[in-house]
Amino acid sequence: MATAKESRVLPEIDMAHLPQHIAIIMDGNGRWAKRRGLPRTAGHISGTKTFRTIAKYCQSIGIRYLTVYAFSTENWKRPQEEVDTIMRLLGEKLEELIASMVEDKVRVKFFGDVSVLSPRLRALIDRTAELSRSIVDGCQVNICVNYGGRAEIVRAAQRWAEMVKSGTENELDEAGFGALLYSADIPDPDLLIRPGGEQRLSNFLPWQTAYTELYFTDVLWPDFDRSELHRAIAAYQQRNRRYGGL
Ligand code: IPE
Ligand code: IPE
Ligand code: MG
Repeated sequence: MATAKESRVLPEIDMAHLPQHIAIIMDGNGRWAKRRGLPRTAGHISGTKTFRTIAKYCQSIGIRYLTVYAFSTENWKRPQEEVDTIMRLLGEKLEELIASMVEDKVRVKFFGDVSVLSPRLRALIDRTAELSRSIVDGCQVNICVNYGGRAEIVRAAQRWAEMVKSGTENELDEAGFGALLYSADIPDPDLLIRPGGEQRLSNFLPWQTAYTELYFTDVLWPDFDRSELHRAIAAYQQRNRRYGGL
């Protein structure tokens, strides 16, 4: 929860009308480090701390779903050393999550092809899935790793083709297709936040964000804090979602 000092400075939001699902592109770690004359990996270390703070805070105020972009299908293009650091940090964060998720009531789900990750990471991912089964309420955190929106859509199309071939399905509609995505059973994001100054989706949730409210900020992810989250939610609460109607 926010401390007394923070509550005085947090921009005001309507706690009765929070977005149900927030998606975040956690961007800007490398530039944050560069500005301090530090290696990019220092930015990733700082960024994982921000993830922890924001995830805990979202859970404490009653956000039902938080989906974060941690590593894209395109991020393999980066130097091996950086990729290795990101994967190591992911392992450390998962160990922390595993230790506290039941008490904190946080379910964890992974979006993306995790089959290519190390056996250790896969074992940690399996453990989060096992623990998540016993958590019925609380907050669900979806972590996108080796995730790409186009790959997700192609995978769903392949799964559909197989169902048609085996004769289990033959009629396709939007709900049926949505059920073949990683986000099956999860409502679409209400609000997508991208820190780091870029105004693009970078292959993040293209299907699910069809009617999502987008919020971009120049603040770099390691500097993103509860105040920034409040600012994003306050902006969201000013929006008029029409869904094509009036
Ligand atoms: C986001 O920060 C983290 C990942 C993509 C893994 P970046 O590493 O993209 O940071 P910038 O955009 O280079 O500053
Ligand atoms: C998107 O950020 C991916 C993650 C934050 C995990 P990138 O830094 O990879 O995106 P681009 O390259 O600026 O589009
Ligand atoms: Mg980036």
